[in-house]
Amino acid sequence: MLRILKGVKGERMRIWLNAVVLLFLTLVLIPVASAAPDAATCLGCHGSMEGEINVNQEKYAKSVHGSFDCVMCHMALKGEQHKGLSGKPDKAILELAAAISSKSKIDPIAQAACTQCHPDVYDAYKASVHGQNVIIKKSSDGPVCTSCHGTPHYIQPNTSKESLVNHFNVVATCGTCHEETFMSEKYGLTPHVMDRYKESFHGRKLKLGDSGAPSCVNCHGAHDIKDVKDPSSPVYGANKIKTCGKCHAGATEKFVAAITHQPQQPIAHFTELALIILTIGVFAFICIHVLLDIIADIRNRLFRKGGDHE
Ligand code: HEC
Ligand code: HEC
Ligand code: HEC
Ligand code: HEC
Ligand code: HEC
Ligand code: HEC
Ligand code: HEC
Repeated sequence: MLRILKGVKGERMRIWLNAVVLLFLTLVLIPVASAAPDAATCLGCHGSMEGEINVNQEKYAKSVHGSFDCVMCHMALKGEQHKGLSGKPDKAILELAAAISSKSKIDPIAQAACTQCHPDVYDAYKASVHGQNVIIKKSSDGPVCTSCHGTPHYIQPNTSKESLVNHFNVVATCGTCHEETFMSEKYGLTPHVMDRYKESFHGRKLKLGDSGAPSCVNCHGAHDIKDVKDPSSPVYGANKIKTCGKCHAGATEKFVAAITHQPQQPIAHFTELALIILTIGVFAFICIHVLLDIIADIRNRLFRKGGDHE
């Protein structure tokens, strides 16, 4: 009983506990003179503004964070219009915000704020190939939280059909980057990883609505995705036996070799090459044959013409 609580409820309890502690701190730390601004204060302007800057009140309220004040993420705001609405983020948030600022250009502090209430997710992400790309390499290529979870104001539970990381939507979400040619050109990854997946048995089954078919996440993980050459990657060498084994009981070394994103099996490749050479060969042979025939014909006629003159 306790163990079930630990596994299922513990995680949620912890997230909520973090949220409550943060709410308390926000209330206490934001200048005591003016109370912390609530969502209604911000929505007074942003609820009716046009374009990107608009936040839809109804959709926000229905999101997983709908009960929070905006300043729990927007811990510090710039500009005259926000005077007196700003709080004071702690050092860890400011440091992370500085590190990811090339990726999160509008409000990196709000982007970094995710980690305060989701510390376990953050730890996994920070150590992942994606987190390393953004935080350590300071690149703008890798994903931050909202690259995968979508607009921060309207996040739905993973189980919702609207969630970008839902089992059936996540392939397209990973594809926003992994479909692009810069992934192979700049990072040397196998081209057409997405196409190979979509053509595979797994990809087709998932498209047909089979919830048992693996999305990218079942093989690679979500927040803890590793370089496939990293021995801790679930698709590295013998680790595959366990990874594939989650669904294919009794998977062997030979079986797990069946799935790669590589363009083609070498045998298929050489068969194709042989076929091309054969076709070109036959075609060339016919051409030469016809050409020789024509030459012989012309020579014959010239020869006969010469004969007529005599
Ligand atoms: C008096 C109206 C008003 C209120 C109240 C207001 N904002 Fe704004 N906010 C604006 C305007 C105008 C802009 C656009 C500024 C620009 O385009 O440069 C803006 C821009 C922003 C941005 C974009 C980044 C930036 O700083 O330019 C964020 C984020 C933001 N507001 C969050 C909030 C939050 C959170 C609250 C509540 C604590 C809030 N705003 C309250 C008027 C307001
Ligand atoms: C769960 C965290 C979170 C909450 C809660 C939140 N925001 Fe945001 N908001 C973000 C993040 C992250 C960004 C994007 C920052 C970036 O891309 O640099 C953002 C961006 C914005 C922008 C700029 C949009 C743009 O594209 O120019 C505005 C305006 C804004 N938020 C207003 C609000 C208002 C108003 C509320 C409350 C009703 C709110 N936010 C609540 C995380 C949050
Ligand atoms: C590469 C894409 C990606 C990035 C980046 C990402 N997530 Fe996720 N996230 C997912 C996927 C996919 C799931 C669903 C996991 C599953 O189905 O098992 C998920 C699930 C979650 C969940 C709910 C389940 C859980 O594991 O607790 C939370 C909370 C979450 N993400 C928060 C975050 C935060 C905060 C960040 C940034 C530090 C982040 N995510 C970055 C893809 C991503
Ligand atoms: C103030 C604390 C707080 C902040 C800041 C925060 N979250 Fe959350 N988040 C929560 C709580 C609480 C839940 C609901 C947990 C539950 O009931 O499962 C939640 C739920 C989620 C879920 C859905 C998990 C599921 O059940 O499927 C995702 C995804 C998520 N948050 C991502 C983010 C991202 C991305 C950011 C930053 C833009 C962020 N969170 C910022 C507290 C926070
Ligand atoms: C915002 C863009 C972006 C999104 C979204 C994204 N990735 Fe990535 N991914 C990258 C970049 C950039 C790298 C290379 C990072 C590096 O090597 O520094 C990478 C690397 C990887 C690698 C490691 C490749 C290797 O080197 O072996 C895997 C596996 C991977 N991503 C899977 C996924 C999956 C699965 C998803 C969806 C849940 C996803 N990615 C979403 C940009 C993205
Ligand atoms: C999340 C579950 C899941 C994971 C993980 C998974 N598969 Fe599958 N796989 C399926 C399903 C479902 C089918 C379709 C079975 C059917 O309809 O007959 C399938 C079909 C296959 C097939 C073709 C049919 C067959 O059974 O021979 C091969 C080959 C295969 N998987 C190999 C792998 C390999 C190798 C891995 C690990 C790299 C792997 N799978 C990981 C669920 C999974
Ligand atoms: C059935 C398990 C499985 C699924 C599903 C899967 N992958 Fe992979 N992936 C692998 C294996 C095994 C490798 C390592 C072998 C290889 O390079 O082909 C790999 C390698 C990769 C690489 C590194 C390629 C390189 O050049 O080193 C990337 C990037 C990647 N996968 C992304 C994805 C994305 C994105 C999806 C979803 C569209 C996905 N994978 C779905 C098993 C899977």
